[in-house]
Amino acid sequence: MSIEKVGVLGCGLMGSGIAQVCAQAGLKTMVKEIDQKFIDKGFGVINKNLQRAADKGKITGEKKDEILSNLKGTLEFEDLKDCDLIIEAVPELLDVKNGMYSTLAGICPEKTIFASNTSSLTVVAMAAATGRPDRLCGMHFFNPVPMMRLVEVVKTIATSQETIDSCFEFCRKIGKSPILAKDRSGFIVNRLLIPYMLDAITVLEEGLASTEDIDKGIMLGLNHPMGPLTLADFVGLDTFIEVCDIMFNEFHEKRFSAPPLLKKMVLAGYYGRKSGKGFYDYSGEKPVPTDLGI
Ligand code: 3HC
Repeated sequence: MSIEKVGVLGCGLMGSGIAQVCAQAGLKTMVKEIDQKFIDKGFGVINKNLQRAADKGKITGEKKDEILSNLKGTLEFEDLKDCDLIIEAVPELLDVKNGMYSTLAGICPEKTIFASNTSSLTVVAMAAATGRPDRLCGMHFFNPVPMMRLVEVVKTIATSQETIDSCFEFCRKIGKSPILAKDRSGFIVNRLLIPYMLDAITVLEEGLASTEDIDKGIMLGLNHPMGPLTLADFVGLDTFIEVCDIMFNEFHEKRFSAPPLLKKMVLAGYYGRKSGKGFYDYSGEKPVPTDLGI
């Protein structure tokens, strides 16, 4: 099935990024939120991203307006009724996600595909609520969505091959490279990324290296664009610990367990860039390592 009209549930960091890339690809995109203020905030970020691209001469002013005209925000599920694909990007609370899928199941036609942007929950746990387990899959995007090329397309035991084919075609249409992942918590990338980032925090906590040297080591030694502690601040330590906890509960393996330092930082409200302080303090002109008493 060719996807022409897209619905996005949630206009936060991920939802707004997903909406932006869909609109950029010329797809009519309807974003559903629970409060107008979240739509305004997310659309504000999109507008800023497009303005930056226009200022750099990467798109024209007319192109920017055309992209924005593809985007609409709504507070009503009803407005998603004619979408070919609905991508859900709401917080990692299964009951909340399933409540939304149940509502949409009664509104959307049979053909509508549902895709969850969950980063760590098992997708099949949402299957019953959708009333169409064969048309549900995972579609895991990476932050910042407009820049990151990968999408993990997740096939549950109930997802049809036709759904996977349509989602692969859709990902390519919006300029992303899809890979197929099995429905195990963390899929492919977070399964590898989470233990690596947790190890970096343990190295810091044990006093083996400084914040800056851990990041510098990985950036200069492995050519990563960001070191693991900068990346943790970028993802958000509250989001990061949530992913770790879900994966730990799934596998009961120590490599997914959050070290005490991470727990303490989240308790202290050190969420990373979004709160102004994490492994680095962002209040000055340049980020400087936070004194974590190590
Ligand atoms: N949104 C949109 N575009 C952004 C952006 C943002 N938040 N931040 C930067 N950009 C764009 C800039 O506009 C610029 O675009 P241009 O090349 O077209 O001019 C480009 O990115 C480069 O920006 P900068 O020169 O300012 O900065 P960098 O070169 O450092 O790039 C970065 C920024 C792309 C974020 C890069 O540092 C990077 O790739 N970091 C790693 C990100 C990463 O690993 N993400 C995955 C996180 S894990 C995840 O999402 C999974 C989840 O489940 C936990």
